[in-house]
Amino acid sequence: MATILVIDDDDAFRDGLAQTLSDLGHRVLEASSAQAALRMLREAPAPECIFLDFRLPDLDGLALLTQLRDEPSLKAVPVVMLTAYATSDNTIGAMRLGAFEHLIKPVGRKDIASLLQRIFSANEPPVATRPADMSFAEAPARNRTQLLGISAALREVQKQLGRAAMTDATVLITGETGTGKEVAARVLHESSSRHEGPFVAVNCAAIPHELLESELFGHGKGAFTGAAGERIGRLVEADGGTLFLDEIGDMPAAMQAKLLRALQERQVTPLGTNRTTTVDIRVVAATHRDLDAMVSAGTFRQDLLYRLNVVLLHLPPLRERIADIVPLAEHFLAQAAQSSGRKMYLSAEAQRRLVEHLWPGNVRELKNAMERVCSLAPGPGVTIDDLSFLRPPAAPAQDLFGPGLLELPLPLAIERMERAMIVRALEMANGNRADAARRLGISRQSLYAKLASLGLD
Ligand SMILES: Nc1ncnc2c1ncn2[C@@H]1O[C@H](COP(=O)(O)OP(=O)(O)OP(=O)(O)O)[C@@H](O)[C@H]1O
Ligand SMILES: [Mg+2]
Repeated sequence: MATILVIDDDDAFRDGLAQTLSDLGHRVLEASSAQAALRMLREAPAPECIFLDFRLPDLDGLALLTQLRDEPSLKAVPVVMLTAYATSDNTIGAMRLGAFEHLIKPVGRKDIASLLQRIFSANEPPVATRPADMSFAEAPARNRTQLLGISAALREVQKQLGRAAMTDATVLITGETGTGKEVAARVLHESSSRHEGPFVAVNCAAIPHELLESELFGHGKGAFTGAAGERIGRLVEADGGTLFLDEIGDMPAAMQAKLLRALQERQVTPLGTNRTTTVDIRVVAATHRDLDAMVSAGTFRQDLLYRLNVVLLHLPPLRERIADIVPLAEHFLAQAAQSSGRKMYLSAEAQRRLVEHLWPGNVRELKNAMERVCSLAPGPGVTIDDLSFLRPPAAPAQDLFGPGLLELPLPLAIERMERAMIVRALEMANGNRADAARRLGISRQSLYAKLASLGLD
């Protein structure tokens, strides 16, 4: 049982929510204004969760959220924002201030139950700092690499990185292209006890197969035709530090076997020699491929996968952590602007456009986009027109909405567009209707109605 505070001036809604929460076994406190809530929070021990309405008679919900985040005893309490009218602005606003969730009224009993489960199953408070504390705009300490992000998903990755940095365990990093796998590997190295040792990155996809072995293990004089002199392999170079094996899924089968042996024995024998060197390395591997599928297909060794996959770190694609989009964009924009001595900012509609984009190239694409905007946008304020180069990816508008959209009678065209957008939102939400409705900015009820009228159930 937890103590939960509900702050909402709509008596009927508040009572209903309080009833649901107490049916689920929790103790409920109710406040109908910001003042009443603040009084209650001063007098009673901090609740374990707060439901907060966007519109209160005396104070805007976001302003109250900001106050709660500034209060040391309350900043770790998860806050669920409630709104009757979801817009991308208030969604972004709430998420940027560190809200745990952003719910659209009316809220179903099942949604509440699963939300509470998510909140209380986290072994640490889900919101520990407000995003503004994350020194996004400030220069990073000592030039350290930073994996920036404020979304719950990325905060989870940051926590996992912190935990892994305390050990020497082998780490496997997965994620789509541009999600920050190399950044994560560097952060891991720089936060580990090996940070004064070398960080050696080998891109297994970029090195021709026949050269990979000598690249990794080195070779003696005349080991093969063209092998002038000797060469120290990358494993030995990484001694005392971290070896980053990038694109490990692209390693040819023969090399996989040799690598496995070297990792098991922590010993390296350069090609064409019988000298063996013992190495002290921490191994981090990364891939955008599905190694499990490759194991099933017989193209990746299962024993090597076991060896590498001691700690698994997955970087979710940017479209699954929309709370990161605007803060990252602001960061990259400021960075790009700084080098040309400018100060730039994103207009509200530009922010909205960025959040809508699917970012198939993930953070790399976002960074490139901000560099482009910085060199092209005329004013300090980035407008939606400055972002006109962002096209719907993979499915360009025409494919998405079908051919000849512009030739159709308006009602039919609208219906087709609605259908395409709803299907896409459902795909992005993995079939979760509440989530899809949120992405579309409509209530769940209207999503259900549209699904029925479009025959999509
Ligand atoms: N969370 C983040 N914070 C700051 N910068 C990031 C973040 N994620 C990615 N970047 C930046 O985005 C770019 C791509 O990141 P990175 O090279 O780590 O991606 P990757 O997952 O290794 O991609 P690929 O699979 O294509 O090699 C880099 O410029 C990196 O600095
Ligand atoms: Mg990479």
